[in-house]
Amino acid sequence: MSQRPYIVGNWKMNGSRVMLAEARAIDRAAQRYPDVEIALAPPFPFLGPVREAVSAIGVGGQDCHTAAKGAHTGDVSAAMLADIGSDFVILGHSERRRDHGETDALVRAKAEAALAAGLSIIICVGETLEERDAGKAEAVVSSQVEGSVPAGEVAAVAAGRLALAYEPVWAIGTGRVAAVEDVVAMHAAVGARLAAIFGEDADKVRILYGGSVNGENAAGLLAAAGVGGALVGGASLTADAFLPIVAAAS
Ligand code: G3P
Repeated sequence: MSQRPYIVGNWKMNGSRVMLAEARAIDRAAQRYPDVEIALAPPFPFLGPVREAVSAIGVGGQDCHTAAKGAHTGDVSAAMLADIGSDFVILGHSERRRDHGETDALVRAKAEAALAAGLSIIICVGETLEERDAGKAEAVVSSQVEGSVPAGEVAAVAAGRLALAYEPVWAIGTGRVAAVEDVVAMHAAVGARLAAIFGEDADKVRILYGGSVNGENAAGLLAAAGVGGALVGGASLTADAFLPIVAAAS
């Protein structure tokens, strides 16, 4: 199934209300690229304001809890994200795996909670430099996909609302983008795991690349086999940096 490329800006823990202007500028420009699906994931405090400021692009959170509500100080539920009009949530980002010790099993539980709340999900996987140097990149990423992606009864629902982001940890925020041939190989490995989980429905799952994507390298990455879009960090913080990536996907 051929789908529009998906370009998602992950603002991480950056921004302020001033950045609503960037979201508006991206949203205005999005109307020129109907062949690209565009979305932003701002920090929680700006999620509602960004949602209200845009209409042509998707908006989502960067994490959610497994529970719908309750005594979990500082956490945000998938139901809350859905309630304020979020379209999706990013789960299992390597920064959350690193900073909060998130495991594959926890990411899967969060993904199931997000699906139950009606959200789409972007699940992140990726190897460290040590793992790549040890020749374990494909094994690590395959195991992350297997452990993090909802399976069993919810698999049929999940396939239609899932994107997988391959983000090699060593390429994130470093300016060191992965070589296109490595991206192709890793996306093929991810695709094989998804096919084992979802069968034919695996075609519905876009596999995004993330890690130092910018306006200069986006065209080459997005043209590579198996790349269904990009998850963009630093270059999503301004419309000037983000829109050339969207244009490259168009
Ligand atoms: O989720 C996006 C990401 O981790 C990549 O960040 O700054 O390398 O584009 P960046």
